[in-house]
Amino acid sequence: MQLFEHASTVPITSYNTEEWQKGYRSLHQEYEYWIDEIEGEIPQALEGTLFRNGPGLLDVNGQQLQHPFDGDGMICAIAIKDGRAHFRNRFVKTEGYLAEQKAGKILYRGVFGTQKPGGWLANAFDTRTKNIANTQVLYWGGKLLALWEAAEPHRLDPQTLETLGQEYFDGVLSKGAPFAAHPWIDPVSQFDDGKPCLVNFSIKAGLSFTIAIYELDLNGKIVRQHDHPVPGFAFIHDFAITPNYCIFFQNPVDFNPIPFLAGMKSAGECIKFRPDKPTRIILIPRDTSSGRPTAQILETQSGFVFHHANAYEEDGEIILDSVCYENLPSVEPGSDYRQTDFEALAPGQLWRFNLNLADQTVKRELLEQRCCEFPFVHPGVAGRKHRYIYMAAAHASSGNAPHQAILKVDVESGERSVASFAPDGYVGEPVFVPRDRSDESGLYTQVQGDEDDGWLLAIAYDSKSDRSSVVILDAKNVEQGAIARLHFKHHVPYGLHGNFTPHYFESES
Ligand code: CO
Repeated sequence: MQLFEHASTVPITSYNTEEWQKGYRSLHQEYEYWIDEIEGEIPQALEGTLFRNGPGLLDVNGQQLQHPFDGDGMICAIAIKDGRAHFRNRFVKTEGYLAEQKAGKILYRGVFGTQKPGGWLANAFDTRTKNIANTQVLYWGGKLLALWEAAEPHRLDPQTLETLGQEYFDGVLSKGAPFAAHPWIDPVSQFDDGKPCLVNFSIKAGLSFTIAIYELDLNGKIVRQHDHPVPGFAFIHDFAITPNYCIFFQNPVDFNPIPFLAGMKSAGECIKFRPDKPTRIILIPRDTSSGRPTAQILETQSGFVFHHANAYEEDGEIILDSVCYENLPSVEPGSDYRQTDFEALAPGQLWRFNLNLADQTVKRELLEQRCCEFPFVHPGVAGRKHRYIYMAAAHASSGNAPHQAILKVDVESGERSVASFAPDGYVGEPVFVPRDRSDESGLYTQVQGDEDDGWLLAIAYDSKSDRSSVVILDAKNVEQGAIARLHFKHHVPYGLHGNFTPHYFESES
């Protein structure tokens, strides 16, 4: 078996832990400049803005955060037009960010392990969380929204990235109300006369929990909303949609709140994966025309899913492709995420789930064993049958490792193509941008021509130069590697999610 794609040029371990760690340093400064160092050529037809969110601070005034998921959200905007590109980054000026920067110290407990200084006494019974707005950013209904699943969105100016305030959608959300960081755009919503709509959810925790579904029209107004109480504890980060359903994986985890309330552990550290229990798959119909729809629950083997690639309906089944982990490692108190022993952890792998609604059965099948995450599909196939999935992936075809490659999986032919940036490069989510013009609403709602006719845009960190760049790949020819590399003047800490809009947002100030 060939272990490496480029066995002759890349060492046995494609990465170096110390080099990888350098990508987890804060970026304190806010920049804006024209990118003048470009390798290759930006396609002339590529026009619009890539927005990306992620933790920008991994420390507060030198006090290290315990987990990168606790880091304050920082948005990068790369505006591209006529073969040129402009870079801008801004922190989301949340209440917590402003307060901590002013105080020069950590004032809040983080969900994933960051404690205020002062030991358990200072942390006991402090369940306030800081809305860190660090997970996702998208442009919808004329608003640029920074999302974090445990609280309300922040609205930003798409030109300048200045924070405009919290978003409550005309009072539908209340102060501090959760709103997930993983909305889908249904490109042809049957509930909106075939127009696109945005579908999102929220999880309200309690002894049992409640899933709320929100559907927003093109003006950014919430037009449908329904709540579904579900028993048990849930740690649900993402979901999937089809024309008729919202689909959730209730992964088998237990939550013991006592050490959290007592200030000894963070909430994230109180979650324990239960491999002996099944995953419950919750299907919520989207049709609200005859009142609140009734949820249906199926079960499958244990496993943990953060991200779903896509789902669709076919012949009475729902087909769902998701990145699944055999095991969820517990976050240990006092552990340092920079010391991750990749080899000791189970990799995320791409699985297909066939949900048969009539028989109430679930079949699952491994589609791709290579360690992967951050799946992305053509926006025009959201909730519809897809052929291609793009992901960040490990350089090697087996084992667990940092993401150094971009992987394209053709689920129809089984073909895979890989572009690796090893040994010095580490890449994030590849955002697919269709070559075709968007529709009048500025969305890519249909596939015109081939589904893979377009580009992949990802932010890559190069440990050798200690700088990051945007890499642009031709999605039809992933194996040829980047056709353009737009070098920043600095590094950008490893990020989470983003989106591309055909609106070109650039303002020189
Ligand atoms: Co996510």
